[in-house]
Amino acid sequence: MKTRILLGCIFLTAISLPAFAEHTVTVSYKTDVRPILDDYCMGCHKPGGKGYEKSGLDLGGYESIMKGTKFGKVVTPGNSTTSTLSVLVSGHADPSITMPLGVKGGLPKDKVEIINKWIDQGAKNN
Ligand code: HEC
Repeated sequence: MKTRILLGCIFLTAISLPAFAEHTVTVSYKTDVRPILDDYCMGCHKPGGKGYEKSGLDLGGYESIMKGTKFGKVVTPGNSTTSTLSVLVSGHADPSITMPLGVKGGLPKDKVEIINKWIDQGAKNN
């Protein structure tokens, strides 16, 4: 029974990921990106949180995301490959700085895709 559910999940992931990648849907900051940040990042990236206190990055609003950390920007509109925010959630970075910090396996792949796509489409406040 467990195996069946697992296989079902793998199958669904396998068919839904390419389908998502092929369609050029416009990703919305408000309806697509915001909920991911709220669910996975806001525990630490708001004033008083661990991530904010260490890096200065407040992920609570569009303006503050674009402002970045106290060291500089984490989003380069149009280029997820060079955007620190993307790199850190994609799992390509050192595990000690992979975001969300301390979450085994990191951010689910479909959510990483949404963030990357949003940045590649210009990281708009849409
Ligand atoms: C458990 C707390 C925690 C969570 C949850 C978390 N972060 Fe962080 N984040 C940190 C800490 C701590 C730092 C500072 C790391 C350092 O400088 O060593 C940081 C730093 C960052 C940085 C800046 C790195 C730099 O260039 O200095 C980015 C970008 C970032 N986080 C993105 C995210 C995103 C996106 C999420 C949600 C998917 C997230 N974080 C969730 C704790 C967290």
